[in-house]
Amino acid sequence: MRLNSPHINLISKACLKASRTLIRDFGEIENLQVATKAPGDFVTSADKKTEKIIINELQKAHPEYGIVTEETGVINKSNEKNRWIIDPIDGTLNFLNGVPQFAISVAYEENNEILCGVILNPITNEMYCAEKGNGAYLNNSRIRVSKKKKVQDSLLVTGGPKHTSNIKKKIFSEYIDISNKSSSVRKFGSAALDMAYVACGRFDGYWQREINLWDVAAGIVIVKEAGGLVDFFEEDNKFPLKRNILATNSGIHDELKVLISKKDIE
Ligand code: IPD
Ligand code: CA
Ligand code: CA
Repeated sequence: MRLNSPHINLISKACLKASRTLIRDFGEIENLQVATKAPGDFVTSADKKTEKIIINELQKAHPEYGIVTEETGVINKSNEKNRWIIDPIDGTLNFLNGVPQFAISVAYEENNEILCGVILNPITNEMYCAEKGNGAYLNNSRIRVSKKKKVQDSLLVTGGPKHTSNIKKKIFSEYIDISNKSSSVRKFGSAALDMAYVACGRFDGYWQREINLWDVAAGIVIVKEAGGLVDFFEEDNKFPLKRNILATNSGIHDELKVLISKKDIE
């Protein structure tokens, strides 16, 4: 890894430490206790354990920083200037089903800008990381977005809708519309890895409505540093942690944005 600011070092160490427990838990999936938060939204003991390890590591170095994390919520609310944004397991449903497509995602935000982030798939041992101004890496190799220029040639990825969504119809018709106009659309079940895959050129673009900030925070800096574009659309300021996101290789960005904003999709 060529990135070595104190923040990125800290995040990668915390992720690697947490991943050891996660790998063990993944191997023992049948013994995990599973509690249901809401349909389609499971919380496992592994989520909580992983989150605790990451928070402990980060707090040892910076007890004064704020933290936004999926399972615990907001910690140190008064510090909004320096924040860690954590998703201990992104792709919980995959994890629970023994599908090795999930990741730990941790970002550092300063003055509302994500400055660095790490996405680690503990099972494939792929660690994506980036730091503003210093490029994006997959393990030790620099990564870049793809060079596709047209949506019709592009392999895209999306996610959702959640069972609780009020705009399921819209999300499904958007999926059909964009599937018809692109090479194909995948749904892999981990927003963090979806973004990481855009950053390294495996996918040409990713979009998703009603995503949480912790799902995509690290991915934002990783895609940008790999030469891609990240955009939010139809923002609702009442819910700053909920987003509609579009992340692409930049070459197909405008075309995909127009398709997503089409008003006749209901
Ligand atoms: C989920 C994954 C999934 C996305 C959902 C997220 P979780 O995160 O990122 O790909 O479609 O919207 O909630 O619950 O596995 O951390
Ligand atoms: Ca998530
Ligand atoms: Ca999660």
